[in-house]
Amino acid sequence: APLVVAIDGPSGSGKSSTSRGVAARLGLAYLDTGAMYRAVTWLAVHEGVDLTDTDAVADLVARSQLVLELDPAHHSVTIDGHDVTTAIRDPDVSAAVSAVATNLAVRADLVARQKQVIADAAGGIVAEGRDITTVVAPEAPVRVLLVADPAARVARRHAELGEHVDAEAVHDQVVRRDRDDSTVAAFHDAAPGVTVLDSTELTLEQVIDAICALVPA
Ligand code: CDP
Repeated sequence: APLVVAIDGPSGSGKSSTSRGVAARLGLAYLDTGAMYRAVTWLAVHEGVDLTDTDAVADLVARSQLVLELDPAHHSVTIDGHDVTTAIRDPDVSAAVSAVATNLAVRADLVARQKQVIADAAGGIVAEGRDITTVVAPEAPVRVLLVADPAARVARRHAELGEHVDAEAVHDQVVRRDRDDSTVAAFHDAAPGVTVLDSTELTLEQVIDAICALVPA
């Protein structure tokens, strides 16, 4: 069967850069499931749908056309014809995404689409997201939970967003999203067979090396 590498982790754990790096090194496709939650959140905001109206949001998501480019060097996300690759990183989307991600009908819909993408990846794939090792790809031969101290996660997110962004605001964002996401049960613990990798003291290259070393020969 094609290789599936599943990588979980909280905000700022480095899971996106790590996942892209592992995919590029091993010549695999790359699926960013967080980008899917962000894209449907962007669409709901764009369409002016009330995010607390769970049925309306679930309905919008069910009707949406989500297209992902799976090349780790040129990944992109398009929803209903809008290329939202950049827009989904906006602070207003980051602030709203937990409201959409805690909608169980939306989760069921996106999880089904993610499973399909993984099943269709004939050349193997690295899939990242909060519930990849527990819900989306529990059978993946390589499953990793990336963790890092909160201070390291805040510092990384700050470096990504740029030094012009207020440090306190970044701290609040990371801590608040941890809390808002904490109601999703699937995010809690490492499931049996999942390798927990603490990246606090490691460089990106070291984390990529450690994950590639888990791939069966
Ligand atoms: O920015 P960060 O690395 O924290 O997260 P992301 O991977 O871009 O995901 C953004 C948000 O989408 C998370 O905070 C979760 O609310 C949600 N998400 C989810 O519910 N399930 C996933 N598999 C991936 C993301």
